[in-house]
Amino acid sequence: MSKRLVGQIAAISASVVLVSLLAVIGKAWWDSRIPETYSVMSYGAHEYGGGPEPPNHEGHGGGTDVTDLYGPSEGEPDARFELTARAAELHLSSGRIVHALTYNGVSPGPELRVRQGDLVEVVLRNDDVSEGVTIHWHGVDVPNAEDGVAGVTQNAVLPGRTYTYRFRADQVGTFWYHTHQVSSQEVRRGLFGVIVIEPRDRQPGVDIALAAHTFEGVPTLNGEEGGRREKVPVGTPVRIRLVNTDSFEQPFTVSGTPFRVLAIDGADLHGPGELRKVAIPVAAGGRVDLGYVQPANGVRVAIEGTEVALALGPSGGPAPGEVTPTSDFDPLTYGTQAPTPFDASSPFDRRFELEITRKPGFFDGTPGLQWAINGHIYPDVPVFVVEKGDLVEITLTNDSNGIHPMHLHGHHLLVLSRDGQPSTGSPWWSDTLNVLKGESYVVAFRADNPGIWMDHCHNLKHASQGLTMHVAYAGVSTPFLVGDEPGNRPE
Ligand code: C2O
Ligand code: CU
Repeated sequence: MSKRLVGQIAAISASVVLVSLLAVIGKAWWDSRIPETYSVMSYGAHEYGGGPEPPNHEGHGGGTDVTDLYGPSEGEPDARFELTARAAELHLSSGRIVHALTYNGVSPGPELRVRQGDLVEVVLRNDDVSEGVTIHWHGVDVPNAEDGVAGVTQNAVLPGRTYTYRFRADQVGTFWYHTHQVSSQEVRRGLFGVIVIEPRDRQPGVDIALAAHTFEGVPTLNGEEGGRREKVPVGTPVRIRLVNTDSFEQPFTVSGTPFRVLAIDGADLHGPGELRKVAIPVAAGGRVDLGYVQPANGVRVAIEGTEVALALGPSGGPAPGEVTPTSDFDPLTYGTQAPTPFDASSPFDRRFELEITRKPGFFDGTPGLQWAINGHIYPDVPVFVVEKGDLVEITLTNDSNGIHPMHLHGHHLLVLSRDGQPSTGSPWWSDTLNVLKGESYVVAFRADNPGIWMDHCHNLKHASQGLTMHVAYAGVSTPFLVGDEPGNRPE
């Protein structure tokens, strides 16, 4: 063969390789584009976790419609609220003006306090938030149609429209509410508030919820930049409910007193011991309740290393300086054991793996390093299919460089172990579990709340970049679509 011929053949094969490579990349690009309108049920691979593959598992045929899964429609509500979404200016104490999105003109929105067992009714109105709004009751395991996810459990509420939520407040604890329409932007801009469900026999004492939120780079507690003071007589039991509404972890410190962690994500801990010099990292979307008895000196609860703090004490005296924490709070070994409805040795009906990685690829037509769940980029992510009554185990693994606060809607997860180390403290129930780089948690839940439930990272930016999937009950389908006429965009 002549040199020239060899050269030509090589050139031709090189271009064949190039063309097929381009074809493969082109297909990957083409396939990654997210349609204008689609059902969250129609994407990804349905996984069954080793359990039976139920009939009608496609979620289309027969069965239950999400809109059949409302809260109680009859009966006078025990607690009724109206929340109107609108743009408003927030005036921070430094004089800074934030162009926010609010419920009722304030951010955080009004603190909703109800009692366990109350029938709660909330009328949501949208004045002028052009992309629409919803309300998701973060951590409250409401019936599916009350869950407030645009495009999954309802349509986004557009300006001039209303939507009424009704649910029974069965759980006691600290929760929060926020829009689940374009949530990565609307929550950041202020569409959130705190909801506390108090026990019927509320103990005397001081009880304060503190919502941390960063507005345009400025950290705040309950919308205030500076220190706030609260007069508390000596000997008073104090409960502080920390709520992290940011998309990143917030560490808190308690100075001037030993304290206890009373609850995580709304669930009381058993036998919580006294802590000193321990920082309390709160996951994005997570809540931690702290308790102490007011000493004669002042006490200070702060976002670590900042002046964003609440000072509590009998007089107007100076707040103590901030302690230097020597360790981080770890729920895995904190408190004492107590019976749980199931544990690591229970017979699980389904076991799933949820592994987060990054990989190069296309997300909605854009190339880059993308989030992947079990090796797949959204919307090609798994749907975990469960049946009502199932005991479900999930192994949550973070093989990426970021922190992922994983939030499952509609259920609380019992933490069984972390990196192979069993949970030996108080039962630890979580709805927003901070999975740090390299960590692997085994968690379990009882599938007792039928619906189609989001399971996503509460770094809402990550969620909007594809760290989102669903747990779907067999036979449940949704008539709502992402996109569609109201422009539903849950993330
Ligand atoms: Cu707090 Cu799916 O959200
Ligand atoms: Cu994340």
